[in-house]
Amino acid sequence: MFRDQRLGECRQDVLDFLSSRKADERIFEADLLVDRAHLVMLREQGLISGEVCTRIMAALDDLMQAGSQSLGPGEDVHEAIEAYVLAFVGPEGGRMHTGRSRNDEVATCIRLALRAQMLDLMAEQLSLVKTLVRLAGKHIETIIPGFTHTQHAQPTTLAHHLLAHADAAGRDFYRLEDAYVRVNQSPLGAAAFASTGFKIDRQRTGHLLGFDGLVENSMDAVSTRDFILEVLADLSILMVNQSRLAEELVLWSTSEFCYLELDNLYASTSSIMPQKKNPDTAELARGKTGSVLGSLMAALSICKGLPMSYNRDLQEVTPHLWRGLDWARSTVRILDGCVSSLKFNLERMQQCAGAGFSTATEIADSLVRITGMPFRTAHSIVGRIAASGGRPNMAELDLIAREMAGYSASERGFSEADLERALDPKSNVALRANTGGPAPAETQRMIKDRLERIAAGEERLAGRRSRVDRALGDLRAER
Ligand code: ARG
Repeated sequence: MFRDQRLGECRQDVLDFLSSRKADERIFEADLLVDRAHLVMLREQGLISGEVCTRIMAALDDLMQAGSQSLGPGEDVHEAIEAYVLAFVGPEGGRMHTGRSRNDEVATCIRLALRAQMLDLMAEQLSLVKTLVRLAGKHIETIIPGFTHTQHAQPTTLAHHLLAHADAAGRDFYRLEDAYVRVNQSPLGAAAFASTGFKIDRQRTGHLLGFDGLVENSMDAVSTRDFILEVLADLSILMVNQSRLAEELVLWSTSEFCYLELDNLYASTSSIMPQKKNPDTAELARGKTGSVLGSLMAALSICKGLPMSYNRDLQEVTPHLWRGLDWARSTVRILDGCVSSLKFNLERMQQCAGAGFSTATEIADSLVRITGMPFRTAHSIVGRIAASGGRPNMAELDLIAREMAGYSASERGFSEADLERALDPKSNVALRANTGGPAPAETQRMIKDRLERIAAGEERLAGRRSRVDRALGDLRAER
């Protein structure tokens, strides 16, 4: 506790209330790096001697070896690390905090630790996208029912369906990439908020820590947690998308649907009903979505209405970030494993593909294309057939068409073969060959395109990672 005589001793329950030590575990290593970068800069600026700098760095190295559990008490990790350095070096160790505050320090630490987490999450998310796209590649000819309102609508392919999830997950990846740009900015050197009279070099510490730029305004730099809000918002959208995938895993694995089966690794049984195989991982992925949305809401509510600049409320935001991140990362990893080990019941899906008269749209479309009648008329004719229930036949079609359009379908060239073709789910799909449609050639094209985009994303990610690793490697080598 940085408490002066005037405040006297503090009670334990008050200390506990003030403490961020638990959440600070997540920024322990980041803090040691931030200290190191600050020290290098102070030495280069002639603000501390090379000798003192070396001694303090030795203390930091010692602490890195010893681990955070060897820190003494303190309201937060920054204070505890400083106490460790002072005990190791003596009073000269107190020069480490020249020209900075815990306010810029904590903001920098969070960004560093978050950056590392985001790089891992982005890799995991890309892996999920790749799993979905590769799986789609195996099913470009697999006909399945497509739904709207959870009612049979039109036939499609499993590839088309999986690619829809892959594209949503891809956008979640791009959103994280966008947020990364704003996360990887250095607030260090802003001090308490009003900068400092010491001649520090913010560009230099930013560079040493592998940041891509500065959060320039020193008041903004310590005040803002909008980078946390942005990441949590992106995670919330990501989770909402994943919950839709999870929901389909739950629904499609029911005995009513029976389209797929989860691998045993991703399912559980019931404690009372021995026959049960429950899709628990998918259910929890769906459930954790709520928790991540809660993290976003908590963080937004804490930040709302805070005046400039640093306010202690901000300490309360960070644990929500770490929790939200942990939930999202584990969900992405589990769903990736779950999806890659799914067993599809292809026969069942195929059988259901034409169920619920889901080829009705194609019959109407064919009537328009062949007889030249307006689409709305064709829609009404097929609607009448649908209402009558049975499998449509030419006689019925001709009868209703004559009544509603004034001519029969056959007399305008619509044959039995045309009706059969329209009723066939496979030819339905083959006809839908426009951009983005389920026709095999089109999904094939999309798969190739998405794999190229994934490879490009992996390359950008590797570039980001190597820039960060290089900077931190050099920083760790500083003596
Ligand atoms: N534990 C604090 C936090 O997480 C660190 C900054 C404290 N600054 C202060 N002036 N008390 O926000």
